[in-house]
Amino acid sequence: MAHFNGRFIDRIVVLTGAGISAESGIPTFRDAAGLWEQHDPMDIATPGAFRRDPALVYRFYNARRANLAGVAPNSAHLALARLQQEFAGEVFLVTQNVDDLHERGGSRQVCHMHGQLGAMLCNSCQSTMQAPEAFDALSACPACGGVGSLRPDVVWFGEIPYFMDEIALQLGNCDLFIAIGTSGLVYPAAGFVQRARQRGATTVEVNIEPSEVTGLFDYQRQGPATVAVTALVAELLGQ
Ligand code: APR
Repeated sequence: MAHFNGRFIDRIVVLTGAGISAESGIPTFRDAAGLWEQHDPMDIATPGAFRRDPALVYRFYNARRANLAGVAPNSAHLALARLQQEFAGEVFLVTQNVDDLHERGGSRQVCHMHGQLGAMLCNSCQSTMQAPEAFDALSACPACGGVGSLRPDVVWFGEIPYFMDEIALQLGNCDLFIAIGTSGLVYPAAGFVQRARQRGATTVEVNIEPSEVTGLFDYQRQGPATVAVTALVAELLGQ
């Protein structure tokens, strides 16, 4: 168990966004050099975009997979893995990120609500399987042999995120909700702070700058994730 600002903490929910992976060399979406500054998300990350120009979408996600292979988890990922291993209570980690840096940082439980870059989905047999570093419209589905039916297993705009029932359950039972490196612009994740507050949880935002929902948090820890998350975890572990 832990105490946080005088409150007894037994169950923690941690939400992460692109900001936690920024210092590993993965661009965020909406910062100055972010992915959505270089591409219109409506041309890349919607089912309609995939129908209109699958080659562009395949190229985009193949490039992200190649970039991911060249980076490593940072001390914020490592700190969260330590919290999960050493905290006597429960820690539920949900991420909007499609990278695997939490797992490579040692986290055994990671809920990928927006899917994973390392996975692909077949639109004809509905199988989900590990993705090679690159695939496209000529690639055959390893499960059904279908050609041109594979897509990145990433939740696109207009699609329903994964694991929403489990996430709602965890938010409904936590004492402490921590949001790290997310802009608070994309729902349903941006609404998690409200849900946790409604159930009486204490809420903390970690970000290099105020997000769109900063005012909804009880506490703000402003700074780069590698510094602010490491310090917060040390505090929760009483170190
Ligand atoms: N440390 C902490 N926070 C950081 C850092 C850092 N080093 N660098 C950037 N940030 C913060 C920014 O201030 C911003 O608030 O991370 C946030 C990144 O915001 P976005 O780029 O909007 O990313 P995110 O909130 O994860 O996007 C949500 O939108 O495009 C969709 O599906 C995609 O999961 C994504 C969702």
